[in-house]
Amino acid sequence: MKTKGLPYLALAGTLVAGLALGAVGTRLGSDTSIGGTLAAASAARGLTGEQAEAALSTFVAPGEHDDYLMFASGGHSGQVHVVGIPSMQLLKTIPVFTPDSWAGYGYGADWGEQILEQGSDPNKNEALRWGDAHHPALSETDGDYDGRWLYINDRANGRIAMVDLRDFKTKQILDLPNLQSSHGGVFTTPDTEYVHISAKTPTPVWSESGYADLADYQEAFRGMSTWVPVNQETGRMELDGGFQIELPPYNQDLADVGKGASDGWAFLNSYNIEMATGGTLEGDAPLETGAIASDHDYLHIINWHKAAEVVADGKYVEHNGMRVIPLDTAIEEGLLYFAPEPRNPHGVDVQPGGEYISVSGKLDPSAIVYSFEKIQDAIASEDFVGTDVYGVPILDFDAVVEAQVELGGGPLHTQFDGNGYAYTSLFVESAIAKWALDAPAGGEEPWTLVDKIDVHYSVGHLAMAHGDTSEPHGNWLVSLNKLSVDRHQPVGTLHPQNFQLIGVDGEKPKLLKDMPVGFGEPHYAQIMSRERIKDSVWTTYPAGTDLLTMERSEHAVAAGEERIEEVDGELHVYATAKRSHFVPDVIRAKEGQKVVVHLTSVEEAPDITHGFAIPAYNIQASLDPGETVTMEFEASRTGSFGFYCTEFCSALHLEMQGWLLVEPA
Ligand code: CUA
Repeated sequence: MKTKGLPYLALAGTLVAGLALGAVGTRLGSDTSIGGTLAAASAARGLTGEQAEAALSTFVAPGEHDDYLMFASGGHSGQVHVVGIPSMQLLKTIPVFTPDSWAGYGYGADWGEQILEQGSDPNKNEALRWGDAHHPALSETDGDYDGRWLYINDRANGRIAMVDLRDFKTKQILDLPNLQSSHGGVFTTPDTEYVHISAKTPTPVWSESGYADLADYQEAFRGMSTWVPVNQETGRMELDGGFQIELPPYNQDLADVGKGASDGWAFLNSYNIEMATGGTLEGDAPLETGAIASDHDYLHIINWHKAAEVVADGKYVEHNGMRVIPLDTAIEEGLLYFAPEPRNPHGVDVQPGGEYISVSGKLDPSAIVYSFEKIQDAIASEDFVGTDVYGVPILDFDAVVEAQVELGGGPLHTQFDGNGYAYTSLFVESAIAKWALDAPAGGEEPWTLVDKIDVHYSVGHLAMAHGDTSEPHGNWLVSLNKLSVDRHQPVGTLHPQNFQLIGVDGEKPKLLKDMPVGFGEPHYAQIMSRERIKDSVWTTYPAGTDLLTMERSEHAVAAGEERIEEVDGELHVYATAKRSHFVPDVIRAKEGQKVVVHLTSVEEAPDITHGFAIPAYNIQASLDPGETVTMEFEASRTGSFGFYCTEFCSALHLEMQGWLLVEPA
């Protein structure tokens, strides 16, 4: 279902011809008379031909749907944002790590509370109510997005969440042991056997108290490459079958999984092999100085197929509920190697065919391209230049590097178009470099810079349609810029960030559209064809569905079955919502009594959502058609309280209200 091709270039020809014809008032029949209208509209808006072309090539007519969906992380807003492409319009925000009252997520409705609570580290003082959503990864089948699930990490807490793409709702947050944070490294393996995450902040994992002094950093602190299997029925991550590979206390960063030629392997960047710990008031240099002292860091090369076998053979230690392959075992078993990489890199990205791996060195103007074949040869012939202080074999840089391509200032992250080109974000230069791989479709010299396009400003990641798959679509590229500065009307001191849509299916990349992002700090995104979900997405639930199981809730009731029961002093309310009333609409409780409300929406029509708010008890649920939710609270506060439907569901929406009477004991 690929939509490759040249839509905007083909359009451009028509439009330019139309504009020219319109300008001289020529009429060549009904087809070209549109040119006159377009020219007039374009002139009225003061658009240049290029701007009008950009507008047309991204226009999605009212009532039509975008071809692609972009899933962008929301940074420390904790959410995921779904954006249509090419229109660049926000379709939806999916609450993940942070409560959202519109969705009824985390305000007294059981499913959101359960997910947020089960996904919180029990050692923390209270259930976490925020996260730092960084790197989304779509599930894959045969190395291509399959539209089933989305995974995303919490950089702040070392967690991964799962969103079910049937209803676009979060179903699980998993707190991973032996990690206190995670940055990059979220990917799914080519058939979603595992979701991977690596540590960011090294942690004294073996210390019982969790404490170790920084003076003992080298001995006590460690990183972890973490592999969690995915239940193929539910998409849920299952900690029981997972494993970790102990790593030196370098900061493991972005990562990518091998595919095609390199299937079974994974590649993790690192920085701070100097193991600097800062100490700016203790007589030491800041970490940023210590961590750039060396002229290189280590690309971690991991044989994960072999790691899974090593675990199956029992060569692990159980630690905090996780099977951990100790560093020594990983070295002995030959599943971990290092290759020098330009210092303090950001992205490591495997090309669609898996033969090459490119690394960008932030402080180095080049992309370094490693050959997987050369890596294998070097491993087989034990062509090592030594080991690090922990004994991990280091491959000879010159023996494994295929090419170095000079790109410009501050290269960060690379995406591929499937036509033999790579696109690398240049943070310092605020540009995207297009460069040729080994066999570019246009016949350029391999491994050379081909083009550059300015972006606004300070681009971090970029995302290509189907960019992390074996078959990128090579038509739309989005630049996720950290700064917008003057691109949008200033709306105060906290500026929106800026997504920029770039058409890359022509000879030259073209900047087509800006999208202000005023709802978080996106880090990375995945762009998937709408085809992958358009037949599988649910628009209503079967009657009485529990969101966590996606099956009928045992507490669901049909219209006519509503009742209030008292069981062991507890009040159990089996209620329904339908335009425009609740049954029952009067709930009588005694002070101190536990109240459990099982509410089912008996609506069947798409988009008829009801809310259920008991403001006096800080409860706000949201019920899509067919959904059943449970709310539970102790009626500790006496009074006569109104509850109401928070969603404008009908002409009599305001009348959709009721009473919670809590009688003093
Ligand atoms: Cu139901 Cu408003």
